[in-house]
Amino acid sequence: MSETEKNIIPSIIGIGAYLPEKRLTNEDLEKLMDTNAQWIIERTGILERRILTEGKGASFLGIKAIEHLYSKTGFNAAEIDGIICCSSNPDYKFPATACIIARETGINSGFAFDITAACGGFLFALDIVSAYMKSGKYKQIIVVCAENLSAITDFSDRGTGILFGDAGTAVLLKAMDNNYGVVDVKIKSDPAQAENIIVKGGGSAFPISPETVSNEYTKIRQDGRAVFKSAVNAMADVTNIILSRNGLSKEEVKFVIPHQANLRIIEAVAKLLDFPMEKVPVNIHKYGNTSSATIPLVLSELEQHLVPGDKVVITAFGSGYSYGAAYIQWAY
Ligand code: UT7
Repeated sequence: MSETEKNIIPSIIGIGAYLPEKRLTNEDLEKLMDTNAQWIIERTGILERRILTEGKGASFLGIKAIEHLYSKTGFNAAEIDGIICCSSNPDYKFPATACIIARETGINSGFAFDITAACGGFLFALDIVSAYMKSGKYKQIIVVCAENLSAITDFSDRGTGILFGDAGTAVLLKAMDNNYGVVDVKIKSDPAQAENIIVKGGGSAFPISPETVSNEYTKIRQDGRAVFKSAVNAMADVTNIILSRNGLSKEEVKFVIPHQANLRIIEAVAKLLDFPMEKVPVNIHKYGNTSSATIPLVLSELEQHLVPGDKVVITAFGSGYSYGAAYIQWAY
């Protein structure tokens, strides 16, 4: 049987994670903006988030996550075909943050590139890895989510300043043909509302200039209510596509893991899908919204409760809008 005739899928064989030590609590935020701790927990489910204070870029978070991944799996750097980095706030416009991470971790015999799909990044990366591995061209890839969001968060804006945190994750994927891995991925974009979550300045539309150094251009802005509604419907829709085209019953799915952006969004998605919250893991209270890193972060905490063959569905939604869902059959 040739490589392309086999049913090769990427198997998740290890997850590393890094969370900066500094905690920013709701009480801390009360001192920074017009908000109150009670409102934040009731309307978002967030108690605290982690903040990178080392004066480093997003690559630092990715490097630390890869070091953790290495301590768990002992992978051979020479066998890694490439690194794909998801970041909503990369180190530089270019070179890719993946290249910095590759250099600093010594994983430098393959490719390294970044993708921009905001909170949907992990799903988009999984789809790329699936296609790469099915092609037979690549055998081992690391997907890094390096999210330094505190640097683009306006801590005087109560519509966004309460939501975001920093984190890094690193997921090692290996081509397997035993059906234990990322069985199916569906990604979608809804560009009609592309600017509903945005960092406007610093690109070619609004280059850095004395007029564009204000928070209005350099920090995250969003239409919270519109995003909320779209996120719920989009994640429920795309998850239903994944469930139905893989013939998955609700009973046999052990966990559905939605992007951790707001506990009320997570609960609304669970309700639309008719999944009980016992099957919907939540860690947003500890870390807030860490963009593309939220799902691998949940998986890194969940892995001890998973056994080979467990069926897990993940779904994410973010700026673009970019969203997706995937069906994973757990491998370890
Ligand atoms: O990864 C994807 C990225 N983003 C998201 O998924 C975020 C989606 N959106 C949300 O999570 C929510 O829309 C927010 C958390 C941003 C806002 O919650 P909301 O329930 O949609 O609040 P709202 O904007 O409808 O405002 C309700 C009330 C308003 O007061 P009035 O007009 O009813 O008196 C706001 O002024 O809550 C007030 N409010 C706040 N009060 C205290 C809004 N933000 C705050 C705040 N602290 N931080």
